[in-house]
Amino acid sequence: MPPPVAVVFDAYGTLLDVHAAVARHAARLGARAAAVSALWRAKQLEYSWILSATGDYEDFAAITARALDVALATHGVADAALRADLLAAYRSLDAYPDAAPTLAALRARSLGTAILSNGEPAMLQEAVAAAGLAPLLDAVLSVHPLRRYKPAREVYALATAQFGCQPHEIAFVSGNAWDAYGAARFGFRVHWLNRAEVPAEYWLDRLAAARLATLSDLPKLLA
Ligand code: LAC
Repeated sequence: MPPPVAVVFDAYGTLLDVHAAVARHAARLGARAAAVSALWRAKQLEYSWILSATGDYEDFAAITARALDVALATHGVADAALRADLLAAYRSLDAYPDAAPTLAALRARSLGTAILSNGEPAMLQEAVAAAGLAPLLDAVLSVHPLRRYKPAREVYALATAQFGCQPHEIAFVSGNAWDAYGAARFGFRVHWLNRAEVPAEYWLDRLAAARLATLSDLPKLLA
């Protein structure tokens, strides 16, 4: 197969570690830290899907705050300063250590690189800059102008429009199985990044999506 025109990445959970925000303030949450972080992420995603299903929209920064409120309340945490600190941390999440070297290696092979994310544009730009990834990306695409969230089909077309190519000419990488599924249905060449080695789900097998254990394997796969 010829190399792709571009490699497009999901942001949160793929290049950026969504659990880094709680990790930074874990001591203030004690034994509840991991459960708060997991519920925060689960509710954030749930709200994105519900809004897209009902045809409503609230930007990703707003649903991230809403999801945090539910996660904190569920675990009996009432701490306004901690809430503010967690939301601030979400705007400067750590990149996974393999993110920058992989992007640099792809660019060295003259492949286009981009993010396609549910993130609201300002939060995404801040996070990408804080993680040092901005100079390694040709584009940071947000679903925001479409007011629909992944895995709505039209959202993935932002990437083909950006690179002026067909879906099969884009390699799409996501650590979120549901996003990998949506991207494969759109026609991208999908690499599902399964860092935690969780069981396969959705209908990825049927769509012949490839699997990755780490981003570091990507440059040689696409050469
Ligand atoms: C994103 C979320 C889904 O970056 O992780 O689009």
